[in-house]
Amino acid sequence: MKFFIDTANLEQIKEAQALGILDGVTTNPSLMAKEGITGAKNILQHYVDICNIVDGDVSAEVIAIDFEGMVKEGEALAALHPQIVVKLPMIADGIKACKYFSDKGIKTNVTLVFSAGQALLAAKAGATYMSPFIGRLDDISTDGLGLISDIKHIYDNYGFETQILAASVRHTMHIMDCAKIGADVMTGPLSAIKGLLKHPLTDSGLAQFLADYKKGN
Ligand code: E4P
Repeated sequence: MKFFIDTANLEQIKEAQALGILDGVTTNPSLMAKEGITGAKNILQHYVDICNIVDGDVSAEVIAIDFEGMVKEGEALAALHPQIVVKLPMIADGIKACKYFSDKGIKTNVTLVFSAGQALLAAKAGATYMSPFIGRLDDISTDGLGLISDIKHIYDNYGFETQILAASVRHTMHIMDCAKIGADVMTGPLSAIKGLLKHPLTDSGLAQFLADYKKGN
């Protein structure tokens, strides 16, 4: 299972990278704005800065919502750095653009997926990644993890190579449940990733080992 961090915060990306378990980064316009990164030039430079920290794929989202605009923007994003993945919204023109980029061998991430039908379209368009937003579904009393299971079942039926990128992960149990279902990738905040470290028996066991060592030295 690949671990992506869902942030535009460089310090958090560095911290996850230093743990040695980071496979990539996802961003979106809201995450950029949260870090105070505004204006096309600054945003593009920020993507390059992120690529220079991590070894894996970095999703960069287009703002255009028409096919021609997405192609123009996506090509500029892809030219920024070999690690860039063009992130496209799950709308008709986004699917057309996804097919265009996949035919050209440019990696894509179809975002804002909320149904299995949308996931099927993204796979047929050759998406590299397809991002169902599980937390946002849970927020409206809909089963986000159930969607991941349905998509996994459909993709396995036909051997689609599109990777299921469980997005809008909010906490550690989301990660574990996605791992049980077999999502290829998860993207979530640093807090959810670091949450996997925690167990009280690890802490008390280590404290005991250190105390016993001190007794004999
Ligand atoms: C995915 O690529 C999105 O950036 C993200 O996971 C959205 O998560 P949110 O629902 O916490 O905003």
